[in-house]
This record gives sequence, C-alpha cells and structure tokens, in this order.
Amino acid sequence: MIKNICCIGAGYVGGPTMTVMAYKCPEINITVVDLNKNRIAAWNSDNPHDIPIFEPGLAEIVMKVRGKNLFFSTDVESAIDKADMIFMSVNTPTKEYGKGKGMAADLKYIELCARQIAAVSKSDKIVVEKSTLPVRTAEAIRSILDNTGNHVKFQILSNPEFLAEGTAINDLLNPDRVLIGGLQTPEGKAAIEELTAIYAHWIPREKIIQTNVWSSELSKLTANAFLAQRISSINSLSALCEKTGADVTEIAKAIGSDSRIGNKFLTASVGFGGSCFQKDVLNLVYICKTLGLEEVAEYWDWVIKMNDYQKHRFADNIITTLYNTVSGKKIAFLGWAFKKNTNDTRETPAMYVADTLMNDLANISVFDPKVSPNQIFTDINHVNGKSDEENQKQLSFVSDPYEACQNAHAVVILTEWDMFKTLDWKRIHDGMMKPAFLFDGRNLLNAEDMTALDFHYKGIGK
Ligand code: UDX
Ligand code: UDX
Repeated sequence: MIKNICCIGAGYVGGPTMTVMAYKCPEINITVVDLNKNRIAAWNSDNPHDIPIFEPGLAEIVMKVRGKNLFFSTDVESAIDKADMIFMSVNTPTKEYGKGKGMAADLKYIELCARQIAAVSKSDKIVVEKSTLPVRTAEAIRSILDNTGNHVKFQILSNPEFLAEGTAINDLLNPDRVLIGGLQTPEGKAAIEELTAIYAHWIPREKIIQTNVWSSELSKLTANAFLAQRISSINSLSALCEKTGADVTEIAKAIGSDSRIGNKFLTASVGFGGSCFQKDVLNLVYICKTLGLEEVAEYWDWVIKMNDYQKHRFADNIITTLYNTVSGKKIAFLGWAFKKNTNDTRETPAMYVADTLMNDLANISVFDPKVSPNQIFTDINHVNGKSDEENQKQLSFVSDPYEACQNAHAVVILTEWDMFKTLDWKRIHDGMMKPAFLFDGRNLLNAEDMTALDFHYKGIGK
C-alpha cells in the first residue's frame, strides 16, 4: 500500500495532477517538490490568486487539501527519502543544442532527477514517468537507478498525462482513460497494480489501461500527434476554403458528423500552440529518423510545417489586407495565451504573428485577461532575440480591451476567451481607424453581426 508520494516538478502537469490525487486519496500524503523556490512559495500562498497556474477549479481544491495531505516544498531530498512512489513531472523541452537540436526531447532534467532519486533512496521505490518522454526512456532511467546509488530496488512505470490546459481539473477528475505501463514481470505487474489502486479511488477500473512500458510511452506521443494532425488537416483546408468560397466551419460540421471521423478537434484556427503538440510531434519525427524510417518521419513533419504555414499565412494576410504595410499602424491583439482559460503562453501562435507584424514595423497593443505583462516580453524575446527595451518600442501590454483597440487600424483575435464575445463591439468600432479591420484567428465572432457593425471582418477559412 502506497502511503507517501513525492512528485518532482510543480508545473502545469505535476501541480494539478497531485492536487486532484490528494483530494481523492485522503489517506495518502503527497509532497510536490520543485527547484524553483518562487513557484513553491506561490503554491503555498494563502491568496488563491497567487497559485502559479491558472486553471478553473484548481485553487479551490488546493485550498481544501493543502496542509492536510498535500504539501509543496523545495526539500527534494527528504521528500524522495520518505516516498514509496515518486512521480517525475519535470519538463522535457525540445533540445536546443547539439545532437537532435530542434527536434529531440531534452532529457537532462529527467536524468538529473533519476540520479538524485538513486543517490537519496534508502528503501525500494516505484518511479513513475509522468513527463512525456521518447520511447525507451524508462530503460535509460532504469540504467541510472540500477547502477548508481544504494542498490535498493526500483520499479519504473510509465503513466502519461492526457490533461489539456484550461480543462485540467475536469480531465483529471473524469479522464477518458488512464494509461499505466510497466515491465511484464511479477514485480512490474505488482507495481502496476499499486498505481492502479490509487487511480481506482475515483476512476472506474475499465478505464485504467495496463500495457507494457514502451506501448505506454509511445501512446502518449502518438495521441498528441493524432490530435495535432487533425488541426493541421482542417487548417490546410481553411486555405483551400478561402480560395474557393467554401466555409471551413460548414465543412468541419459536415465531416465531423460522420461518427467515424467525430466532431472534436476540427476547429480551424491561427494554428495550434501549447507545450506539447509541436514538441511531441518533433520528437516522433526524430525517433523515426534515427530508426531510418524517413518516409514516416516526413509524413509527421508535415503536421508541423502546416502549422507554421498557417501562422505565417494569417500574419501575411493581415499585412496584405492593410494595403501591404502595417508600418507605424496600431494593431490590437485580443488574447496572447495559446488557448482560453490558461495563463500559459508556450508556443502561442500570438508571438509568431506578433513577430511577423513587428518585422513590418507595426505597433502592437496586447490585452489578455490572464497573461502577465512580463510574459509577453519573454515570449517575443524568445522569437526575435531582442531586448525588452527594444521590443517595448513596438509592443505594449494594456489591462483594458477597449484601450488596446482605441485608434487601432486592425483588431486581431488570437485567443478564444469567452469575454471577447460579449465586448461592446460597436464601441470598439467607433474608437478605431477606418476602415476598421477585424481578423478573427479563432472564428469566435459571428461574421454577419460584425459586418452589420461595419467591420471589415475576416475569419479563418471563410
Ligand atoms: C512538463 C513537460 O513539458 C511535459 O512534457 C510533461 O508531459 C510534463 O511535464 P509542465 O508541467 O507543463 O510539463 O512543465 P513545467 O510547467 O515547466 O513544470 C516543470 C517543473 O519542474 C518546473 O516548475 C521546474 O522548475 C521543475 N523542475 C525541473 C525541477 O523541479 N527539477 C528539475 O530538475 C527540472
Ligand atoms: C494537449 C492534449 O490535448 C492533451 O491531451 C495533452 O496531455 C497535452 O497536449 P493542450 O496543449 O493543453 O493539451 O491543449 P489542447 O486543447 O489540446 O490545444 C492545443 C492547441 O490546439 C491550442 O492552441 C488550441 O487552440 C489548438 N486547437 C485545438 C485548435 O486550433 N483547434 C482545435 O480544434 C483544437
């Protein structure tokens, strides 16, 4: 029976996952540790607004269980020492150097974690991979655990997380499935059962799928690749629709009502963002390449190429429509996060669209209800490498959507926040330069309503 759990990494995955687990398993003590002191301090704050991750419903559950059986700490070693089970939820970004640069997953944090676990552990433990990892990472972790440290026994499980940001709490409470991969030995199977028993506190057994380790690792990568592929497929058709007069929303509805296709993940957009899709597809491409499967690698690589094409096509269309230049023009950005209901901006299309427009010398004014002002400068610096001071000449953040749109030549919707639907669009139109252009990168607004207000409205794939 598992009594003490440690989770390394208090990020978008580790934080919410452990919060829900603690809530549903009151008899298990869970300590979430992180190297980042500020992040841990924020998790421990008495003010729910300070919780470092914005997710609907998260802060309420944290307040219920924190200090009872959920703890946030920077004392990684003592949490590892006490634990019967350790989740690794550290980040696995795309490698930015050396071999596999720009494609492979950077496993340095995973390796550091494994070495630390090996060094500290004085009793047998189950180590669970929660981070998305390339196939056969468990083997590397096993080799480190077995060849360093105090010769205690480790079982390694793969238990990928399928939560989507913005709906994380609901996804964790009611997942479509939970996947647990382990070695098919008696000890491996026993470890799988231990983790199954934890999830069985709130998830029906038939939704808990047990597999071998490699299937579990690869299922996570390929689930994200399939989802990303659907978006690239519908986005490729959005370009065709714009040339032919077909409407991509009508096409999505028509094809999505075929139960074999299904209606989810068919919303054409400015492109997908987020920490996972691009990273995981690139990782899949890299794995195929290293195994000599060139055609398979190329097939999946087009999912990313199509996404890049969509982001650039959207930005180019803004410039072309504004008489081929946005130089000196004010462009309002409504939304910066990669999707609604999150403050996460990793790989957000907004930063790439901003970069293209800034290269054409636009002045951009950004409003987002949850993203912090500092974050947009970190993001744009990531794309163009320029200092904040330099970027501030062309990019600003305002805390009011109407102020962002005042005197703008164009308004651009980058994130599908619900609040944008109920803005006073007449007031926005009145305050803009004429003709008032509105580029809806999320097809959030009703084209007829906006045209009736005299906007020059342009959605995606319309
Ligand atoms: C990450 C990965 O991006 C994803 O592939 C995986 O599926 C789950 O983990 P996320 O939780 O969104 O997702 O990452 P992030 O919010 O960056 O959180 C990771 C945390 O780990 C950070 O707070 C970081 O400080 C911490 N960390 C990292 C450690 O505590 N120790 C380390 O050695 C490295
Ligand atoms: C994704 C997976 O959904 C989740 O299962 C996995 O664990 C992590 O990666 P996430 O990136 O948080 O989750 O959000 P998701 O809802 O998948 O959206 C990703 C991106 O695709 C967003 O930028 C979103 O706006 C975009 N998207 C999604 C579309 O453009 N069209 C769609 O139809 C759906």
